[in-house]
Amino acid sequence: TINNMGAGRDILAIVWIYLACVSTSFSATTESDSFDYTTTNSTDWIEDLTDIESKFSLRTAETPDDDLCYIVPGQPETIRECDFNTDTKTFIVIHGWTVTGMFESWVRKLVSALYEREPTANVIVVDWLWRAQQHYPTSAAYTKLVGRDVAKFVNWMQDEINYPWEKIHLLGYSLGAHVAGIAGLLTKNKVQRITGLDPAGPTFEYADAQSTLSPDDANFVDVLHTNTRGSPDRSIGIQRPVGHVDIYPNGGTFQPGCDLQKTMKMIVSTGFSNMDQIVKCSHERSIHLFIDSLVNGEKQSMAYRCNSKDTFDKGVCLSCRKNRCNKLGYEINKVRTRRSTKMYLKTREIMPFKVFHYQVKVHFFSKDLLNFTEQPIRVSLYGTHGEKEDLAYVMPVMNSNTTVSFLLTTDVDIGDVLMVKMIWDKDSLFSWSDWWKSSTFHIRQLRIKAGETQARVFFRPKEAEFAYLKRGGDQVVFVKSKEDQSSRKQERLHKLKMHGSFFKQKNDMD
Ligand SMILES: *[C@@H]1O[C@H](CO)[C@@H](O)[C@H](O)[C@H]1NC(C)=O
Ligand SMILES: *[C@@H]1O[C@H](CO)[C@@H](O)[C@H](O)[C@H]1NC(C)=O
Ligand SMILES: *[C@@H]1O[C@H](CO)[C@@H](O)[C@H](O)[C@H]1NC(C)=O
Repeated sequence: TINNMGAGRDILAIVWIYLACVSTSFSATTESDSFDYTTTNSTDWIEDLTDIESKFSLRTAETPDDDLCYIVPGQPETIRECDFNTDTKTFIVIHGWTVTGMFESWVRKLVSALYEREPTANVIVVDWLWRAQQHYPTSAAYTKLVGRDVAKFVNWMQDEINYPWEKIHLLGYSLGAHVAGIAGLLTKNKVQRITGLDPAGPTFEYADAQSTLSPDDANFVDVLHTNTRGSPDRSIGIQRPVGHVDIYPNGGTFQPGCDLQKTMKMIVSTGFSNMDQIVKCSHERSIHLFIDSLVNGEKQSMAYRCNSKDTFDKGVCLSCRKNRCNKLGYEINKVRTRRSTKMYLKTREIMPFKVFHYQVKVHFFSKDLLNFTEQPIRVSLYGTHGEKEDLAYVMPVMNSNTTVSFLLTTDVDIGDVLMVKMIWDKDSLFSWSDWWKSSTFHIRQLRIKAGETQARVFFRPKEAEFAYLKRGGDQVVFVKSKEDQSSRKQERLHKLKMHGSFFKQKNDMD
């Protein structure tokens, strides 16, 4: 254990040095833009293949971690030599800034996952490692040249073998997302899709659309934001939306399982080998969420349109009407709106990341005026497939005669909810107010809306007209309401039946 602790301390030091480097280089000013080409009118440059420095490796399902065959723009024989499949889709994977100058372990994982989902596809990995291991602002400025390289490559493939644009999907991580955007902007025809995996924030947050990933760069641009903590332009991931659909898992700021304590535990147990993942846990989570969508299709995560993280946390955004919800990752519905659509969801801390979302809506009655803040409650949900007990939630406010709405999630599928239990915990601090202040709310009804099934179900106290939720008291039990099983769907069904019989009668008479 002494060894482990020593290693832990060393690594902690490395983590801090790393973070310090990151933040100092992030705050440095951008280098002057010496790579500007968007102001020239000529498109001749795209035919000039002599100055391409990036390399394009066609990886295989058998050897996802090694570059065995490069497709070289200007050398058409390399397309054949690498066994490029001209009939199937092509994924072009673009890495980001690197400290080590080597491919990080996620590259192999993403390549494998893409082949697992699309075995006949071509997965090409762009190697711009040399330009990506410079001082951050230098590498950030290089995204323009690398984007140009990728545009030339894609353009040449199209000229050479008539490869269709709609079969090209660019996937870029961090700085690589902006490379993909610039490439998409410069190609003669629009590529089908760009997926931005936590696009880099520093020097890009306030940059124009020509320099960053933007909705104009492909027919469809989807973006995952997973590490946007901190003030704008200092957060590792870009905070503003840059695609058609921008998804902010867990609010987009920071991901579950990525806190320092967990990090230290992981270092002690797995050592240096996963260093890159540990340090950039939240940033890299964007990639693992996408991988999850490729390999765990039966556990598809859903995201919901919402204005903000805080509104989402109130549970009020779980609607699927008019494209308000969408699938995260590979199977996303390609909904294009004029303005970016911001979407939110919660996830687990490990793969598969899917959770089930529930909005709980409840009205608190009381005769006397009660006014509480920050109250700990626990809710247990019992469903047709399973149950989840003691989901903790801190009620921001609990006032007399007000309705509250909040979000709960379960990592297991409990099916249709049949019963709900709720308990109001008393914080351990003794309070004089408990002596004179009554602290019981009356609840007549509770409504639960499930995001994943869109079912809205009403619950009533099991025995009486009211349930009495007492601070520090027993748990109260609610069961699916019988007379009020008229969730909207059933109401509609009922109406349909009535009309149906009416028309049937009429038809019979005819
Ligand atoms: C681009 O075209 C415009 C109008 O066609 C012309 O005025 C301008 O000089 C051109 N710029 C360059 C750099 O060739
Ligand atoms: C809450 O509403 C009930 C019924 O409308 C009423 O009797 C009660 O006085 C109200 N309580 C407060 C604190 O206003
Ligand atoms: C509840 O109490 C807080 C201070 O404890 C006060 O600011 C707020 O106005 C009160 N709300 C109601 C509805 O009485």
